[in-house]
Amino acid sequence: MSRLFRTKPMSLLSAEANEQGEHTLKRSLGAVNLITLGIGAIIGAGIFVLTGTAAAEDAGPAVSLSFVLAGITCAFAGLCYAEFASIIPIAGSAYTYGYATLGEFVAWIIGWDLCLEYGFGAATVAAGWSGYLSSLLAQFHIYIPPQFTATPGTQLVFFQNEWIPLKSLPMGIDPTNLQHATGLFNLVALLAILAVTTILVIGIKESANLNSFIVFVKLGVVAVFIVLGGWFLFQHPHIATANWHPFIPPSDGAGHFGLNGIAMGAASVFFAYIGFDAVSTAAQEARNPQKDMPIGILGSLVVCTILYIIVSTILTGLVKYSNLDVAAPVALGIKVTGVGWGTLLVDIGAVFGLGTVMLVMLLGQSRVFFSMSKDGLLPRWCSDIHPRFRTPWISTIIVGLVVAVMPAFLDVNALSKLVNIGTLLAFTIVSAGVWVLRVREPNLPRPFKTPLVPLVPILGMISALFLMTRLPAITWEVMIGWLLVGLIIYFGYSRKHSKVQALPESVAAGD
Ligand code: ALA
Repeated sequence: MSRLFRTKPMSLLSAEANEQGEHTLKRSLGAVNLITLGIGAIIGAGIFVLTGTAAAEDAGPAVSLSFVLAGITCAFAGLCYAEFASIIPIAGSAYTYGYATLGEFVAWIIGWDLCLEYGFGAATVAAGWSGYLSSLLAQFHIYIPPQFTATPGTQLVFFQNEWIPLKSLPMGIDPTNLQHATGLFNLVALLAILAVTTILVIGIKESANLNSFIVFVKLGVVAVFIVLGGWFLFQHPHIATANWHPFIPPSDGAGHFGLNGIAMGAASVFFAYIGFDAVSTAAQEARNPQKDMPIGILGSLVVCTILYIIVSTILTGLVKYSNLDVAAPVALGIKVTGVGWGTLLVDIGAVFGLGTVMLVMLLGQSRVFFSMSKDGLLPRWCSDIHPRFRTPWISTIIVGLVVAVMPAFLDVNALSKLVNIGTLLAFTIVSAGVWVLRVREPNLPRPFKTPLVPLVPILGMISALFLMTRLPAITWEVMIGWLLVGLIIYFGYSRKHSKVQALPESVAAGD
């Protein structure tokens, strides 16, 4: 039984982190690349889409407090990730941290759980991307056949020169006289994932450079929104005052609004923060991981937290929260300022922005599989490195193909909640792991130290578990089902092929 909890010795981890040669990942990323990688993964569907729904349904104008609450949860986890990434700069991220501290079984659970975050996360964002691309092209009167932009059975209507889901039709508009279409499968999302996969196979540096360029476009769009919206509210303070009142709408008795609504909003907009941890999966591709990993993780998190709080405050000042439950709330906010090109700008920002989220999520997923395969928990071909591109090409392609099919056929709305619960579980385990390692190996050199241990890890665990409790029961059920499938694979394959299990007793820790 105790063999289940064998940990991977730190000496082995250090040796892996220092491997060199053509069969290793290429170390080419600096601190700026890592911060932009983080921002590339973070700013996406969360801020461009979910803010509106969370304001309208859960928290009202206090959605900015939801962002504060979710940001605090991420800050605790981010500090723990930063410590681990500086000590164990290995591509497997939370999976590897779990292996080093809590043992193989827990590591497997996190590795499998991370598929919910990265794989399903990329799928969720691909579906959002397809919507924004259709909307952007529609502005130039280019129409993708709507049947190929939505999951099977989605009802679409042609309204104001674009195809939108029937459920997004503004109240009071009679759909009977509008042109209708029914989704067959989301070909656009499928092609988007395949395109991103191709870029990832070609090279990490190319991927990171493309990401850096797009991040600046995305940040530019967010900055324009803040300047235009902020200036408008400065000139029309009465509009802001009216829209921000009541700041915390009273509870509706069903868990929405009031203080509980802020917490539910936080569990939902948490999706907007996901991605800073993906920086740690690029640890073996960083030139100086000990120093730059904490900068990349915490730097991207700080930038995005500040932007989110400002954007959500301005957005709820521009538009009454009850009117924000639309597909493109940020575009709606800009419209209020009277700037005609606002929608176009936001569509461009979202198309670019969501593209980089997919890129980093898929990067993270393939790197986790790479690490699991190196440990023998997944087949060996998962860690094959392409001799020319120096990327884990087979795992990247397989992940890309599987993820590409998901948004094409599955309803991805519920998937975003699944992504949240999977990520929160990983945060909980990583926080616990930092504390465990402090107790077990107090003298290990730590280039970055999480402050106030064990307080910060404990608060990290409590806040992540708290947000998990705010998610619907169905999300829990699917997560548990997913983990059970993982257990079958672990006991059927991974345990028998594990390299750590094969180590002599004298080398393996945890027995
Ligand atoms: N944080 C990412 C997004 O909002 C996952 O799209």
